[in-house]
Amino acid sequence: MDKKYIIAFDQGTTSTRAIIFNNEGEICDIAQKELTQHYPKSGWVEHDPNEIFTHQQEVFIEVLKKSGISEKEIAGIGITNQRETTVVWDKNTGEPIYNAIVWLDKRTTKICEQLKSLGLSDYVSKNTGLVIDSYFSGTKLKWILDSVDTAREKASKGELLFGTIDTWLIWKFTNGKKHVTDHSNASRTMLYNIIDLDWDDKLLEVMDIPKSVLPNVQYSSSDFGTINYNGQDIPIYGVAGDQQASLFGQGGFKSGIAKNTYGTGCFMLLNTGKKPYASKNGLLTTLCCSLPEDKIKYALEGSVFVGGASVQWLRDKLQVIDNASETEAICKSTTSSEDLYVVPAFAGLGAPHWDMEAKGAIYGLTLDSGKNEIIKATIEALAYQTRDVLEAMIEDSGKQMAMLKVDGGASANNYLMQFQSDILNVQVDRPKMLEVTAMGAAFLAGIKAGIWTKKDISKIRTVDKVFKPEITEHDRNRKYTGWQQAVARTKTANK
Ligand code: G3P
Repeated sequence: MDKKYIIAFDQGTTSTRAIIFNNEGEICDIAQKELTQHYPKSGWVEHDPNEIFTHQQEVFIEVLKKSGISEKEIAGIGITNQRETTVVWDKNTGEPIYNAIVWLDKRTTKICEQLKSLGLSDYVSKNTGLVIDSYFSGTKLKWILDSVDTAREKASKGELLFGTIDTWLIWKFTNGKKHVTDHSNASRTMLYNIIDLDWDDKLLEVMDIPKSVLPNVQYSSSDFGTINYNGQDIPIYGVAGDQQASLFGQGGFKSGIAKNTYGTGCFMLLNTGKKPYASKNGLLTTLCCSLPEDKIKYALEGSVFVGGASVQWLRDKLQVIDNASETEAICKSTTSSEDLYVVPAFAGLGAPHWDMEAKGAIYGLTLDSGKNEIIKATIEALAYQTRDVLEAMIEDSGKQMAMLKVDGGASANNYLMQFQSDILNVQVDRPKMLEVTAMGAAFLAGIKAGIWTKKDISKIRTVDKVFKPEITEHDRNRKYTGWQQAVARTKTANK
């Protein structure tokens, strides 16, 4: 039987999916399950690692069944995942010793302050490309080892393993045979040296993390072991953190290509090529998806913590919409929200501000501000936050950007995309197929399986619409200045 399909596992912050692609890069079928969010304390966010694995198994089986495609026709699996989220498990029982601590979780803010007071900020930035922040896995792993009963003792006996979600899934799917990750995920741990391409001994020592818990790091397009299903061994040939996967899926394997994904957060990545750029403006330096036949490539990244999550807030907490798709019509028909700004610092402020303690705020309320005005200002905040990041990127790279490629759920919102283009004064290019993250993981696996080359990938991506700036320079400046003032008032005093 011809092996002409690839399955992508897309394990994100709010859902777990399996998508089958054919060798033309078209989607054949999708299966999806929502993931339970746990908020045990203010600022804490957890997932159940067993639920993640079970859901991934279920959607894998479901997508095969509903598509009618046989496991014998699958050439490989590509895994892409929410990054930084941290799992520690007992390698003898296979049971997590604590829930997964999600990337949005702020409980390690104090540990980060301690690391900063040891004078480690420059070292961390030069060697890991990151800023010291609770966002990354390192301090989450340290917290688990320090806080869970007997964890330190077990770790010192070599009985515990750490992983981001890719590593956890691979370990479970391969029945404990493979404890591995890829360059793009490793570069988000704050423990991986992106210059030496190895775990960083100094940081492991400072955070008291035994090397035995860490996975082996591989190229993103390589052999990560096999999943046995119905007696059939299906190879896992691609692994990447979701944001690097979407850069790859957008054809961003060359220097100078930038994309912005509107998911739970908003993540803009610019491929900067073979040399790491050290940001002077609060951006991160991170590893792109890696291929054994290529040189290692770096990207500048602006991570905004709350993007689509603020639309969920409108739906679930304020309960002013039933569905995210309603927001486009509301924004288009609401004209009286000129000076209203929602700063969605619900998980602090990420790039380029890095203020772990900031909290969300609304400015400019008047008696005629109603729910529609707040909805519109929340949507516009996605575009303003993206401009903050783009400004930093232009400063750092010294390059003006002509075009921004977009993907992720909220990129379907035509009002937001037009507003984005207006506020950036940059063209916004939206592809026909918005499942770019999954596509990136599928490409990584498909390349290893011999189905595609990088040339084919560029041909598979087709444009749906290019949004061009329509407002005047004066209007753009007035709106953005209002946003900057709102952000300045939201930041905590020490920032
Ligand atoms: O760094 C966090 C990011 O990987 C989460 O992505 O798509 O789950 O919002 P997403």
